[in-house]
Amino acid sequence: MFEISEKKKLAQDVYSVWVEAPKIAAHAQPGQFVIVIAEEEGERIPLTIVDKTEDKIRLIFQVVGKSTKKMATFENGDSFAHVVGPLGNPSEIDYYGTVLLIGGGIGVAPILPILKALKEKGNRVISIMGARTGDLLILEDEFSQLSDKLIVTTDDGSKGMKGLVTDGMKKVVSDGEKIDKAWAIGPVIMMKFATKTAQELGFPIIVSLNPIMVDGTGMCGGCRVTVGDSVKFACVDGPEFEGELVEWDELLKRLGQYKVEEKESLEEKKK
Ligand code: FES
Repeated sequence: MFEISEKKKLAQDVYSVWVEAPKIAAHAQPGQFVIVIAEEEGERIPLTIVDKTEDKIRLIFQVVGKSTKKMATFENGDSFAHVVGPLGNPSEIDYYGTVLLIGGGIGVAPILPILKALKEKGNRVISIMGARTGDLLILEDEFSQLSDKLIVTTDDGSKGMKGLVTDGMKKVVSDGEKIDKAWAIGPVIMMKFATKTAQELGFPIIVSLNPIMVDGTGMCGGCRVTVGDSVKFACVDGPEFEGELVEWDELLKRLGQYKVEEKESLEEKKK
């Protein structure tokens, strides 16, 4: 159970694996995630289900701390101790017209199943993929095959358009596209500014707050976020929310606190 196959390095510190998990594969829908516990007693890592077959699910992860570093050492034939899911609410997939999908960094991975499902519903889909540099871009082939139009942005201009995903969003609209709905997934700061830009450009945007989860099951409170006037847990109430209702500054402040602990944990592991 949970045996790994087809492990592939997609970019520096970013890996794709297929994991044998027939029960999860049977029920998984776009937008949902699993919790991976690589070794007994290990940390719980929430990861979006990027793709599936009848008996396997595809996961993509980035090495950011000690648990993901451990996960990266697993090879084909090794097995994760536990994979729990599918968790969270599925994305609301429907026919909207023209949809803009925005993925930043590793956030491109959870966008992929949404892209596939929106295309199946007959939407015209424009995708924007952003990364710091060209060699950090992932899944470009899949995105260019499935999207009606693809814009790549890099901070340093080493690939595609030089700039941020928000510059790509402005370009799409100035090129005359009328966007009916958008999704943005990536670092929290990127989703904050993608939301601001969508508001300025006049279209609704959905964000996925899976980067802020800890245990993923409503127990730890780590993923709490103020949405509109109420406190929500991203793992059980989300992970997707309307971007304009999220209290971004409060969220960014709390995430800053976790960073210190994560760094300490990684330093501890090196000793
Ligand atoms: Fe712990 Fe949601 S991640 S309550």
